[in-house]
Amino acid sequence: MNTNDFRIESRNLIGGQWVGAADSGAFPVTDPATDRLVAHVPLCGAAETRQAIEAAQAAWPDWRSRTAAERGDLLRALADLMMRDRPRLAHLMTLEQGKPISESRGEIAYAASFLSWAAEEGKRLYGETIPAGHRDKRILILRQSIGVVAAITPWNFPSAMITRKLGPALACGNTFIVKPAEQTPLSAIALGELALEAGLPPGVINIITGDPRAIGAEIFRHDAVRKVSFTGSTEVGKVLMRQAADHVVRLSLELGGHAPFIVFEDADIDAAVAGAMASKFRNTGQTCVCANRFFVHESVYEKFAAGLARAMASLRVGAGFDENAQIGPLIDDDAVAKVQSHVRDALDRGAKVRTGGNLVSVGAGFANRFFSPTLIDGLNADMRIGREETFGPVAPLRAFTSDDEAIALANDSPYGLAAYFYTRDASRLMRVAEALEYGIVGANDGLPSTAQAPFGGVKQSGFGREGGRHVMHEYTSVKYVSWGLGPA
Ligand code: SIN
Repeated sequence: MNTNDFRIESRNLIGGQWVGAADSGAFPVTDPATDRLVAHVPLCGAAETRQAIEAAQAAWPDWRSRTAAERGDLLRALADLMMRDRPRLAHLMTLEQGKPISESRGEIAYAASFLSWAAEEGKRLYGETIPAGHRDKRILILRQSIGVVAAITPWNFPSAMITRKLGPALACGNTFIVKPAEQTPLSAIALGELALEAGLPPGVINIITGDPRAIGAEIFRHDAVRKVSFTGSTEVGKVLMRQAADHVVRLSLELGGHAPFIVFEDADIDAAVAGAMASKFRNTGQTCVCANRFFVHESVYEKFAAGLARAMASLRVGAGFDENAQIGPLIDDDAVAKVQSHVRDALDRGAKVRTGGNLVSVGAGFANRFFSPTLIDGLNADMRIGREETFGPVAPLRAFTSDDEAIALANDSPYGLAAYFYTRDASRLMRVAEALEYGIVGANDGLPSTAQAPFGGVKQSGFGREGGRHVMHEYTSVKYVSWGLGPA
C-alpha cells in the first residue's frame, strides 16, 4: 500500500509473516477529513484469529524464558524505531484518524514512552519470601507471565492504546495479539513492521484486522488466551465480561468516562482555563478522560466562562495536515450525529450556547465533520450531555455554591474514570481528591496521563490499571511455593 509518500503493509502479522484474509477479503480505511480511500486491509475472522493465537502460544515458551533485560532491550529498540519514524507514523495516524498532525507527533512519543517504561519496569518484577508457619518450611512468591494476551484497542489513540498494553504484556514475558479498531488499523500494522525490524521474535506480536465480532468470539473461545485487555465503550465492555465468563479469562477494561471539571472560588482562573482547554479539546474532545461537565463556583463563574470562551474562540478548526489546526474532524458521521444531538437536547432543555454549536466548513473537498468548539451555559443532569460521554468539542457549564454540592454533582454518574478540579487551598485539594469517586484525579492538572502512573477507572469505567508499576500486576500471576526443607 502506498500512502502518498511511503509504503506500508496492508496485510496482517501472524507468526512473523505478513498474511491476507483467507476468504473474506478486505475492508476499506478512509480519511475522516475527506472520506478519501486510504487503504484496504484484511477482513479477518475466526480462522486467522486462531492462527494468531496459536502463533503467540508457540512463541511464549522462548519469550518467557528470556531475561527481563533481554526483553527490555527489544522493547526499547521498538520505542527507538518509533521515534526514528515519528514523522511517517504521525502522518499515517492523521491520515486514518484525522487528529491534528502536532497531536499525532505527540501521540507517537506518548506511545513509545509506554514501551520504554515497561522495558525498565520488567526488571523490577520482584518476588517475595514470607515467614513460614513451620520451622521446616519456607514460602516463596513468584510472579510469572500468564501466556497469550489479547488486546482490543480503540480508534482515538491508534498507537498509544496498543503500546500501553503491549509494553507491559511483553515485559512480563507474555505474547500478544492485537485487534485494532476498524477505523485505524494502519498505525497498528506500521507498529508490526517496526517490531520485526526491532528483532522481536516471530509470534511475540501478532496483528489481526477485521470483523470485531468474529475475532472477539474466537479470542474468548480459545483456551490459550489467558488475558484480554480492552479499551472502548462501557457497552462493549459489558459484552466482553459476559464472554470472558465461559473460560474465566482475566480482563482489564478501560471503558467510558464522563469527567467532571470543578473550578473552586479560590482557583487560579487562568490556570483553570488552560487546564480545561487541554483536557477538553485534546483529540477534538474524543478521549475517554476529556472533561465532559464543568462545575464552576458561582462567584467565579462569569470570569471562568468568559476566559474559556475567549480561549475557545482562538482554536483553529482545520484538517489534520494543516500545521496550525487544533480541532480536527470527528471520526465519522455517527460521532457528528451524537454531538449534534447532545447540543440540541441541551438547548431543548433550557441551556444556551455561548459560543460554537454548529458544524463548520474547512474548505472544498472536506467532509462535513468539523464541529466548532462549543460552550454551553445552563448544564443540568436531565440533559443527555449531563449524563453521557459526548466525545466531541463541547463544554457544558453549571454554577455551584458549596464544596459538598460540587462533589455530589461530580460523583453523580455511573462512570468513574477521570475527574479534574482547580483550587489553591491545600486542605481542600486533599479532601476533594479523596472524595471524588474516580480512578484518576487531575488536581490543578488538565493532562494527568503518563506512562509512570496507573491509568484506569472505577464504577462502570472499568477495572485494571495501565501504566506505572501497577500495570505489571495485570500481566502476571502470583504463584506461591511452599518449600518443605525435610529433616535438618
Ligand atoms: C483514552 O481516551 O482512552 C486515553 C486517553 C489518555 O491516555 O490520556
